Amino acid sequence: MSTTAEQLKKAFAEKMAQAKSLSEFNELRVEFLGKKGVLTEALKGLKNLPEEERKETGKQLNLLRAEMENAISEKITACEEAARAEALSKIVPVDLTMPAAEKLGSLHPVTIIQREIEDIFRSMGFIIEDGNEVETEYNNFEAVNIPKHHPARDMQDTYYLDNGQLLKTHTSAAQNRILRKYGAPCKVLFPGRCFRNEALDASHENTFLQMEGMMVGEDVSISNLVYFMKLLLTEVFKREVKVRLRPGFFPFVEPGFELDISCLICGGEGCPTCKNSGWVELLPCGMIHPNVLTMGGVDPEKYTGFAFGLGLTRLVMMRYGIKDIRTLNSGNLKALSQFGTK
Ligand code: DAH
Repeated sequence: MSTTAEQLKKAFAEKMAQAKSLSEFNELRVEFLGKKGVLTEALKGLKNLPEEERKETGKQLNLLRAEMENAISEKITACEEAARAEALSKIVPVDLTMPAAEKLGSLHPVTIIQREIEDIFRSMGFIIEDGNEVETEYNNFEAVNIPKHHPARDMQDTYYLDNGQLLKTHTSAAQNRILRKYGAPCKVLFPGRCFRNEALDASHENTFLQMEGMMVGEDVSISNLVYFMKLLLTEVFKREVKVRLRPGFFPFVEPGFELDISCLICGGEGCPTCKNSGWVELLPCGMIHPNVLTMGGVDPEKYTGFAFGLGLTRLVMMRYGIKDIRTLNSGNLKALSQFGTK
């Protein structure tokens, strides 16, 4: 071996034996292999050697360069691994399956009742669908038989977006979409948040929840409607509830009904929740208007169906005896957490 190569090899071996840390190995790499490193300089100096010596020394120096590079890389990797292992050993292990030390949260009363009703309807073969909160004016009004300039629009003033769409005023807004999606026959339940420009009081909120249901098929009649509504209320209240059925006008049903229940807050005596009438409107319903079926692509000559729009927020108030609707959107954990988890 040439003296230069031999000297470099020896010097490198000595320094490698002393170096211990990552930064020391990095420094060594610069010292020997960097742009101005000793080995690099030696390679540059080859051109001054006589021809036959240049060839042999060049070969040896290049071999040496590869050896140095490997040796340093190995040491650097080992240092990095050791550092990682040390960092890992300092981490306190976390058992993600352990129960939280903090008090667990509770489900919102609306969620509890919504899930309960969804289970009841699912057991009767209904599909549960999500509705949009932002809707087209067409779906919210025209498609449910409320044409432009119809006075029924006045009762459902809402928040209009710049693009002409609106925050849906009722879950009926999804009827057209659902009829088009499933066709006839179908049994679908579609809960959702609704919005209206309301004067707020104990029983009116600008944001509330409804649960709409539709059953369409051959020979679906008012008796089917009454059967399902009674079953629903018995299951929800887990006791006999006094109900009354009276004619009600809704442009999307014909005939239409108002199904009221005797106020469970005051026992029918009269209170602010029932506006002193002793009755609470809970379940408007009716037979789907032929226009609505037609617009949904269903032949009204062949199919009939019923629809209902359950006031989910109201129902929750009745079930839990919540006197003021505003409690539900208040974010008041003290009030909301007393209904428990489920
Ligand atoms: N969409 C009506 C409202 O918000 C509620 C309603 C009434 C829904 C009658 C229905 C129905 O499906 O048949 O006032």
